[in-house]
Amino acid sequence: MKEQIEKIRKDFPILGTQVNKKPLVYFDNAATTQKPQIVIDTITEYYSKYNANIHRGIHFLSNFATDATEKARETAQKFINADSIEEIIFTSGTTEAINLVAFSFGETFIKKNDEIIVSEMEHHSNIVPWQMLCERKGAILRVIPFNDLGELELEKLHGLINSKTKIIAITQVSNALGTINPIKEIIKIAHKANVPVLIDGAQAVQHIKVDVKELDCDFYVFSGHKLYGPTGTGILYGKKEILEKMAPYKGGGEMIAKVSFEKTTYNSLPFKFEAGTPNYIDSIALAKAIEYITDLGLDNIYKYETELLEYATKELKKINRLKIIGEAKHKSSVISFIIDGVHPSDAGTLLDQMGIAIRTGTHCAEPVMQHFGIGGTIRASFAFYNTFDEIDSFVKSLNYIIPLLK
Ligand code: ALA
Repeated sequence: MKEQIEKIRKDFPILGTQVNKKPLVYFDNAATTQKPQIVIDTITEYYSKYNANIHRGIHFLSNFATDATEKARETAQKFINADSIEEIIFTSGTTEAINLVAFSFGETFIKKNDEIIVSEMEHHSNIVPWQMLCERKGAILRVIPFNDLGELELEKLHGLINSKTKIIAITQVSNALGTINPIKEIIKIAHKANVPVLIDGAQAVQHIKVDVKELDCDFYVFSGHKLYGPTGTGILYGKKEILEKMAPYKGGGEMIAKVSFEKTTYNSLPFKFEAGTPNYIDSIALAKAIEYITDLGLDNIYKYETELLEYATKELKKINRLKIIGEAKHKSSVISFIIDGVHPSDAGTLLDQMGIAIRTGTHCAEPVMQHFGIGGTIRASFAFYNTFDEIDSFVKSLNYIIPLLK
């Protein structure tokens, strides 16, 4: 991958941008990734040549767009090795996918005093929908803690699961700490107690090869925009036998089989969960992003990003007053850190002056910050188009700004 880097970078037009007269160093990939030309071109091409509402027309354009959308669904199915396209639901992203499950699974299976387990390292999207469900149903939210390295205290999970536990929802990779969780082990423990598991893959699918059959997870969710695809896209994978039992989420066109004022019946999977005109052109472009990274190879991506992570960790550790937050043994290419005496947003503003884009604050994961008793971190998150030179320039910039901020 190192050898191909110049060629790869040319596929991403935004990477040529100058910010404050400096070459952009984009280290905010956990928030959103940049888009390759093929994704941008696909959106333009479909709006220019093939746009018509899908699943509704009898004319050429509608059929063309429908076929492309259903092919995109197959691409997503193969990408995570799901059994069938019935198990692949297009959503607007991870947040909508989790809200969908929390609502529909909740309507069908959760009653008063039931329990739901999440972890202390979830981002708000995998906390708040479950809290809202608990409020609606009088259920109880339980939390798996993590230790100061940012690793889950898995032995505590055994004590949390009981006959009232109805679902575990857990992230594969922490957006704030970079921790890669042992989800296969968690799924095994849960299944022994007949508890289904939702895996939040928002920070995982772009870094690690995912096989939902091998994992045996019951739900898997991810966002398109963190996977080099368009915003407003995402996938919910669910095992067919559970999805079939779940109540619909949104009502409207396409999710119905028959409507009358006396009674409405619902469409089959996956359409039962896709009310209204979907974001089909962006989903078609998402499939192009999936093809793009599949061609690069997830194993190559993981290897290269791990090298970036290790190099950046080593270099950052040399900086006085800098403390890395989250030092799990298994990490993806995210480094959160604080600098003694420096407010993260001041550091972020000065880094921006130098063309360096990082994220500062709580990263929509306030309980993680509460664990460490801090207000926020500075977070650098790498993608396969980042370089070792960019890390050098990041470290150099930090060394320059830190004395200015004390
Ligand atoms: N969840 C996204 C992040 O970590 C927005 O930045």
